[in-house]
Amino acid sequence: MPAGGFVVGDGSRAYPGKLTPFVLFTCVVAAMGGLIFGYDIGISGGVTSMPSFLRRFFPSVYRKQQEEATSNQYCQYDSPTLTLFTSSLYLAALISSLVASTVTRRFGRRLSMLFGGILFCAGALVNGFAKHVWMLIVGRILLGFGIGFANQSVPLYLSEMAPYKYRGSLNIGFQLSITVGILVAEVLNYFFAKIKGGWGWRLSLGGAVVPALIITLGSLVLPDTPNSMIERGLHEEAKTKLRRIRGVDDVSQEFDDLVAASKESQSIEDPWRNLLRRKYRPHLTMAIMIPFFQQLTGINVIMFYAPVLFNTIGFTTDASLMSAVVTGSVNVAATLVSIYGVDKWGRRFLFLEGGTQMLICQAVVAACIGAKFGVDGTPGELPKWYAILVVTFICIYVAGFAWSWGPLGWLVPSEIFPLEIGSAAQSITVSVNMIFTFIIAQIFLMMLCRLKFGLFLFFAFFVVVMSIFVYIFLPETKGIPIEEMGQVWRSHWYWSRFVEDGEYGNALEMGKSTNQGTKHV
Ligand code: BGC
Repeated sequence: MPAGGFVVGDGSRAYPGKLTPFVLFTCVVAAMGGLIFGYDIGISGGVTSMPSFLRRFFPSVYRKQQEEATSNQYCQYDSPTLTLFTSSLYLAALISSLVASTVTRRFGRRLSMLFGGILFCAGALVNGFAKHVWMLIVGRILLGFGIGFANQSVPLYLSEMAPYKYRGSLNIGFQLSITVGILVAEVLNYFFAKIKGGWGWRLSLGGAVVPALIITLGSLVLPDTPNSMIERGLHEEAKTKLRRIRGVDDVSQEFDDLVAASKESQSIEDPWRNLLRRKYRPHLTMAIMIPFFQQLTGINVIMFYAPVLFNTIGFTTDASLMSAVVTGSVNVAATLVSIYGVDKWGRRFLFLEGGTQMLICQAVVAACIGAKFGVDGTPGELPKWYAILVVTFICIYVAGFAWSWGPLGWLVPSEIFPLEIGSAAQSITVSVNMIFTFIIAQIFLMMLCRLKFGLFLFFAFFVVVMSIFVYIFLPETKGIPIEEMGQVWRSHWYWSRFVEDGEYGNALEMGKSTNQGTKHV
């Protein structure tokens, strides 16, 4: 065993290190990267339900909206250009996260964050001054490029900076700032929609420059992670930085392990092809399945279209924005619960509890909407208690997501990748997340129109599948250093056949004691 290390109960190494004010500061600043993503998610739904915005850019939707409430409510927002406005961003993010993988690996995590901030700023300005639909779409594409860079680099940055015992909580700072971004956007929409003259949407869209500036400035003051410095050959700087970050003098074991991991990573010519190697099968599977399932919870139906949805079930524009504010606050509060519990209760518990909660709520919401709207979408008079019931269950559903799949959808992938595949694998996670965010944003309004209340049952089905997947295939990763993660696969009943002893990514794993850790279901 290298000098300075000691062994904890299950045979894994425990690196010394405290939660220093320095690490806390860097993680808080970096987590702000989530703001730009969140702001955007929250802003589009509200803007697309503002009549002045629709009248100007999407007149056909505007006309439908003005028609009598007796027409089919499920279909009033069904317009491909309107959904293209929302979803073009995600396609752009998908492409840029792939480019970001190289930038993050070769030039450090900070540079990717900086690019993210600048591109997002540009997009916000184009959108705020938009005169034609094409300007809106170009602006959204720039925002998307920014998000691809930020989401590729920030979760990785946080997982590398954090001492492993606090990794869960610190990493969820990213999701917390996503949820704060969503909430701020929703509150702003609520007030901007009231501006006389109907130009409030310009402030909503242009307001994105504020979170963009925060992450841009943040990336200029942040240090790079020791992992990234070592990856780029800056060994001495990395060691000094590691001491500062961990707040202890003896960091030799963690440092040696990082150097060993980086040597292995250097010997790899093509990080993408490398991902296809048998020993990385569990990582690749999780890099794809976790973001896929996160989107198939259906959360973005609520996030993007909450005002539209509330409108559909009978609220006026004003009340529907207010309801979105309510769901936004629940989202933030429940994320705090996750920050508190993730390193105590573990990831699997939160995944399974959150899944059950979401499932129950989806079934209730489907039943409520089905009962009142039937299959032809004509509700007649909607009593107040009915609307309150639907909003309550939507809130319980959001809470379930916000302490499970929301934060864990970013945390778990970023903590299971060994250094040599980290950057490429994180890009896969971001891309898959964006593809499915795109698909759902693109087809939701059409699905609502066709599947009607059955839409909620569609997502409920996937919640069942993902919970079974977690139960069977996802080992617990709480409290395990990233460099030690190999043991969770080696001791897993299924993944052990791919990850043999001495076969796992890092060179440091070679020759380590056998049969570590406990069995995970
Ligand atoms: C997801 C987003 C979602 C948000 C809601 C994030 O983790 O990736 O798609 O809108 O959570 O809080």
